[in-house]
Amino acid sequence: MKIPLFKPNLGKEELRNLAQVFKTGWVGAGPKTQELEAQFAKSIGARHAIGVTSCTAALHIAAQALGIKKGDEVIVPATTVISTPYAALYNGATPVFADVEEDTLCLDPEDFERKITSKTKAVIPVHLGGHSCDMDRIMKIARKYKLYVIEDCANAQGTKYKGRPVGIFGNIGCFSFEAKKNMTTGDGGMLTTNSLQWAEKLRAFRWYGSRNDTWKRFSGNNKYSWHYDVAELGWKYNMNDIMAAIGLAQFKKLPLALSKKDKIRARYNKELQGISWLATPKDRSYTHSGYWLYVIRIKNGRRDKFIKYMGEKGITTGVHFPPVYHHSYFKKLGISAFCPVAEKVGKEIVSLPFFSTMKPSEFSYVVKSIRQFR
Ligand SMILES: Cc1ncc(COP(=O)(O)O)c(C=O)c1O
Repeated sequence: MKIPLFKPNLGKEELRNLAQVFKTGWVGAGPKTQELEAQFAKSIGARHAIGVTSCTAALHIAAQALGIKKGDEVIVPATTVISTPYAALYNGATPVFADVEEDTLCLDPEDFERKITSKTKAVIPVHLGGHSCDMDRIMKIARKYKLYVIEDCANAQGTKYKGRPVGIFGNIGCFSFEAKKNMTTGDGGMLTTNSLQWAEKLRAFRWYGSRNDTWKRFSGNNKYSWHYDVAELGWKYNMNDIMAAIGLAQFKKLPLALSKKDKIRARYNKELQGISWLATPKDRSYTHSGYWLYVIRIKNGRRDKFIKYMGEKGITTGVHFPPVYHHSYFKKLGISAFCPVAEKVGKEIVSLPFFSTMKPSEFSYVVKSIRQFR
């Protein structure tokens, strides 16, 4: 049996939406993008949602909109992907790595506070694997030191913190619709904010630095207006209606997909109890649903052997994530860090196959294989 780590749930609904877009002939950013933005904003409880090509792009322009620049420091957790520190680097700022909590793998509020200097301008908490960060504690520290907060919600579509969706606790939230995520648009992302001022900046930065994108000029008047002005340095990061058509179908499926994943998670927790060399995830009481990953810990230094063994059984596993500052690029930049918890858990964590369409036979095969590991 071959079992992937993730599998997108794409079908008739996505094809139906795509057919509508093909019929209209408008495949760029347009009405479907606006529809997905409106639905997404409403679901999060944010005033504005802005569709982009990826969460990496979202993080980049979120930091730009907040005025992060050369000489500034941005605190990021050690356990994340390169996109999080890139948000600082793309804007000429320096990423500073803070440690994570051993149980949740999310930013440790205490180490975050320890890493603050007079140069710190922002923090980017990552809701890792869909487990929410402790936003009350993080926001309290951010307010104390007057720091901006960009929530990295790439892993956390549908995650709630104390009953409210993540993505609105900080100044700007950044989501990912990349191929493996809880909902996908192939690649894609979404920004959320309650600030009109930042929303306008973000809309401009995603489209060359202009506030007058093609759809606005096409649909705003009776006749097409060719003129637009670029007032600031921008990028070409806009979501388009092909992505949004897929996204609208995926978004509709998201609640059911998440409830299925919640059930699979509960079953994994139950079936993997009592194995001495393995620990199942411990979720804090404030986080609810939205899980992207199912991460176990393999003790006694046998993690890599376990991954190899699972691979031989045809089961794909992953590591989300080793300390991000291990990338050789940081050496070139002269940036080094050492976060003891991230180092330790980075050697123990394994992500197991976890997707909403996982069949009972696939699930049983994974559990049986784990139990047979010697
Ligand atoms: C924590 C985190 N942030 C950002 C990203 C980047 O997302 P994207 O692939 O949409 O650029 C990812 C991707 O997996 C991620 O896991």
